[in-house]
Amino acid sequence: MDKIKVIGRQTLSGKIYISGSKNSVVSLLPASILSDECVIEKVPHISDVDNLEEILRYLNVKFSLESGVIHIDSRDMKNLPIIEEYSTKLRASYYFMGAMLGRFGKVEISFPGGCNIGARSFDFHLKGFEKLGAKVEVHDNLYIISADKLKGAEINLPFPSVGATVNILLAAVKATGVTIINNAAREPEIENLISFLTSMGAKIKGVNTDRLEIIGVSKLNGGHVVVIPDRIEAGTYILAGIMNGKDLEICNVNPNHLKSFFDVLDKMGALYKIDGDKVITNRSLNLKPVNIETAVYPGFPTDLQQPITTLLLGANGVSTVRETIYENRFQNTKYLNEMGAHIDILGDTIKVYGPTSLSGKFVRTSDLRAGAALVLAALSASGETTISDIKHLLRGYSDLIKKLTNVGAKIWLEDE
Ligand code: EPU
Repeated sequence: MDKIKVIGRQTLSGKIYISGSKNSVVSLLPASILSDECVIEKVPHISDVDNLEEILRYLNVKFSLESGVIHIDSRDMKNLPIIEEYSTKLRASYYFMGAMLGRFGKVEISFPGGCNIGARSFDFHLKGFEKLGAKVEVHDNLYIISADKLKGAEINLPFPSVGATVNILLAAVKATGVTIINNAAREPEIENLISFLTSMGAKIKGVNTDRLEIIGVSKLNGGHVVVIPDRIEAGTYILAGIMNGKDLEICNVNPNHLKSFFDVLDKMGALYKIDGDKVITNRSLNLKPVNIETAVYPGFPTDLQQPITTLLLGANGVSTVRETIYENRFQNTKYLNEMGAHIDILGDTIKVYGPTSLSGKFVRTSDLRAGAALVLAALSASGETTISDIKHLLRGYSDLIKKLTNVGAKIWLEDE
C-alpha cells in the first residue's frame, strides 16, 4: 500500500476529529520507561507509534494498545543496544537516549532516522548530556552515552530546540540536584511531556517559559497522560476546508495552539469560525497573498509551512514563505509546479505566484509535510492525482484516508 489516489474537486462536508499529537506521543512513549507503569490516552494511529512499540517490546517492555489507550509496564525492561533496524525508522527513537540515560545511566543507540529536511544535527542534546556529567562516545553511527551519576547543571541551549529540550528533561528528572535549561523550547508538546513527567512525581518549574528548572528526584511513580490534539494535523484539515469545504468542521482542536496560523488565515481573508474546540471552515475565494516566516513556537510552525503553500497557490497575487528552521523543506514545490503551480525557490524563501489552477499528476512524497501539501493539492486539482511513497504520510497522519473519505473526498490507497 504505498500509493494514494485522489480525484480532486469534491466538496468536503461533515466532521473530522483530530487525533493525539504525533510530536507529543513520540516523546511520551520513550519517557514512559522512567517509571515502572504508565498509561497514555488518545494515542494516534500512526506508524511512528508502531515503530516505538517495536523498540519498547525489543527492550522487554510490556505494551498494550486498545482503543487509543496504551498501558506500559517496564518493570522487566532490559538495557539492550538499540540497533539500526529499530532506531532508523523514526527520528524520535533518539529520545531513548535521554530516557535510558535517566533510567540506567547508560544507553547505546545507532543514529536516528526521520524526514530528510535539513542537517538536523543533535549536538545540543549530546552537549546537554555531557553537562549533566555523561560521557558521549561515537563509533561510526553508534552512540554510547554513560554516566556513573547524573548531576544537575545549568544548560544554555544555543537555539530553543524541541528535541534537545525533551532529551535533557528526560535525562535530568532523576539526576541529583537542580538542572536549569535556558532558552528551552516552548512548543505545546513540551508542556504535554512535562505534565506526564509531573504525574510520575518529577519536579519541574517554569512550564511554558523558556527557562525550565528541574529538581531531580530519586524515584518516579506510575504516570498518566492524555496526548494533546495534533495542532499540525488540525491545521492541515483546516486548510482542506478553506480550499474545498462546505461547513467542514474540524473537531477536537486547541485553537490556542494555532494562533499564528489563524493570524495568517485572517490576513488572507479565509472563511473559518472557531467555536470552542471546533473550527468550522468554508471554501474561500478571493484570498489575499501574504508573506509568511516560520519561527519557533508561538511563531508560525515550520510543520505547516508546506501545507499552507498549497493554499497560497489560490491567492490573488504573489506570496512569499521564508523557512527559518530547516534548510531543505521545499521539496513539495517541485511537484506542485508539475501540477501547474508557479513557485520559485530563492535560497531560504519561496515566491508563490497565485492564482493558479492545479491538475492531477503523478507525484511523490519526499517527507511528511510535503506529503500533506500534495494531498491538499490533489484534493483541489482537476482530475486524478497519484501520490507515491506515502510511508512518510502514514508516519504522522492518523487514519488520513478514512477521515477524508468520511467527509466526501475521493481518496483511496493502492498497492504498487
Ligand atoms: N538543531 C541543531 N542542533 C541540535 C538540535 C537542533 O542544530 O542539537 C537545529 C536543527 O538542525 C533544526 C532546528 O535546530 O534546524 C530545529 O530543531 P528542533 O530540535 O527544534 O526540531 P526537532 O526536535 O528535530 C521537532 C519536531 C519537528 C518540528 C520541529 C520544530 C518531533 C519529533 N519533531 O523536531 O516535527 O519541525 O520540532 O518545531 O517533535 C514534523 O512533525 O513534520 C517535524 C519535522
